[in-house]
Amino acid sequence: MANQEIARRRTFAIIAHPDAGKTSLTEKLLLFGGQIQVAGAVKSNKIKKTATSDWMDIEKQRGISVTTSVMEFDYHDYKINILDTPGHQDFAEDTYRTLTAVDSVIIVVDGAKGVESQTRKLMEVCRMRNTPVIIFVNKMDREAKDPFDLLDELEEELVINVRPLTWPIESGPRFKGVYNIYEQKLNLFQPSKQVVTEKVEVDIHTEDLDNHIGTPLAEKLRSELELIEGVYPEFNVDDYLKGELAPVFFGSALNNFGVQELLDCFVEIAPSPRPVQAEERIVMPEEPKFTGFVFKITANIDPNHRSCVAFCKVCSGKFTRNTPYLHVRHNKTMRFSSPTQFMAQRKTTVDEAWAGDIIGLPDNGTFKIGDTLTEGEILHFKGLPSFSPEMFKYIENADPMKTKQLNKGIDQLMDEGVAQLFINQFNGRKIIGTVGQLQFEVIQYRLENEYNAKCRWEPLSLYKACWIESDDPAELEAFKKRKYQYMAKDRDGRDVFLADSGYVLQMAQMDFKHIKFHFTSEF
Ligand code: G4P
Repeated sequence: MANQEIARRRTFAIIAHPDAGKTSLTEKLLLFGGQIQVAGAVKSNKIKKTATSDWMDIEKQRGISVTTSVMEFDYHDYKINILDTPGHQDFAEDTYRTLTAVDSVIIVVDGAKGVESQTRKLMEVCRMRNTPVIIFVNKMDREAKDPFDLLDELEEELVINVRPLTWPIESGPRFKGVYNIYEQKLNLFQPSKQVVTEKVEVDIHTEDLDNHIGTPLAEKLRSELELIEGVYPEFNVDDYLKGELAPVFFGSALNNFGVQELLDCFVEIAPSPRPVQAEERIVMPEEPKFTGFVFKITANIDPNHRSCVAFCKVCSGKFTRNTPYLHVRHNKTMRFSSPTQFMAQRKTTVDEAWAGDIIGLPDNGTFKIGDTLTEGEILHFKGLPSFSPEMFKYIENADPMKTKQLNKGIDQLMDEGVAQLFINQFNGRKIIGTVGQLQFEVIQYRLENEYNAKCRWEPLSLYKACWIESDDPAELEAFKKRKYQYMAKDRDGRDVFLADSGYVLQMAQMDFKHIKFHFTSEF
């Protein structure tokens, strides 16, 4: 029973550069899962959601989705968990962390634009973890790049081998459909938002194909397929599972075209929950005892209750409601009476969840990103690194009467992983590091609205913050002495070097050969 439950789970994220079609694809997948009945539901939900959750006016103003939500649905015998990721690049770190909780990803690429900056960055995170990826080339109903050029671009830019499993016949106004190489079926394009197109079984070597798409296109398709078979090796599921080979699908999410092929292949080949590495040992999903970790904390989903939800990925065994579990960092037993699961924006209380599932735990400041829950074992899951921030500012108290509120607010926002806090060892000032400008605005807004505290930012020009360590204590001390103005501590008390330029960092690396400079907090 346990093994069956776990084997039928598929937990993944859709990642894309903003506007490539992530929302449209998510919506169509939910349509197949019967979670929503009409196209447009996800979008309209998005609007409704922002209207009710006014804590994030910023979200409304900028039309971005700040929070990562989870959607689950059943498809045939499979239980599918989609982890949504914020599209805005200033929230990239949120997305990085979400990627630590998935077993595979689908990358959406705009057929006309090809690989864009955000896609490239997110793929780097997938590569770090050997996450299996499937690529969906979207918007084929618009004029797209040549598919062979696109495949070359995908290989080069995403540094992964690719293998097309469907093949487009033209694009834009001439778009005729896709040929499913896998099933050897022709899928003719009709613009539509709901209907699943009829698939025609066609032997491409017969005139049948000519009758459907005309002789010139039929001949072109035959020669292109021949070329594909010649150039690209057979699709090998093992290579895909190792994160070395990405199957590629073509279609149009808006028109619900090519999406079912993608979904059918996805459930068949995508991995069920994978083993998870903890500092102490590897945890297998089929182990009978429950373990899980918090990868995301979202504040105030319900504006009437100023509470947080901690998203916990179940790594092994079965989670049961109202059962005592160990919060490892606090060494404290906790019970959860109202854990939630999410179905296309609806929340329901769950009684049990299996490895691969994501559960929402009500949180009033007890959780921090990376916290582990177990049935008693001391475990620390790896793979939730903080990345070296790219923007820095001093944070100052703008209302001296509210110092306590400010400190509490900063602490909790850092626990949520909104940004990183460093204390400059030279002047004792607090530095906030983020990956984007927007986070400073979010922090200021939330400090005012949730903690009744006011902050002021002071500019600070830094290039990078890197964690340092060394086996040579004397050299480490010498370094810290020399760079005393640029030394800081992170929240865990680790040494951080604040380099104000790339040149300074390079020189430091050359002068201090026995010091290791790390650009993520996990080393
Ligand atoms: P995102 O979540 O990745 O940011 O992308 P989203 O799905 O919101 O899509 C971005 C825009 O691209 C939307 O248009 C959407 O309708 C359009 N789009 C998505 N898939 C396709 C496709 O297959 N073909 C075509 N032609 N367009 C597609 P918009 O104008 O920004 O929004 P809307 O007014 O359509 O809602």
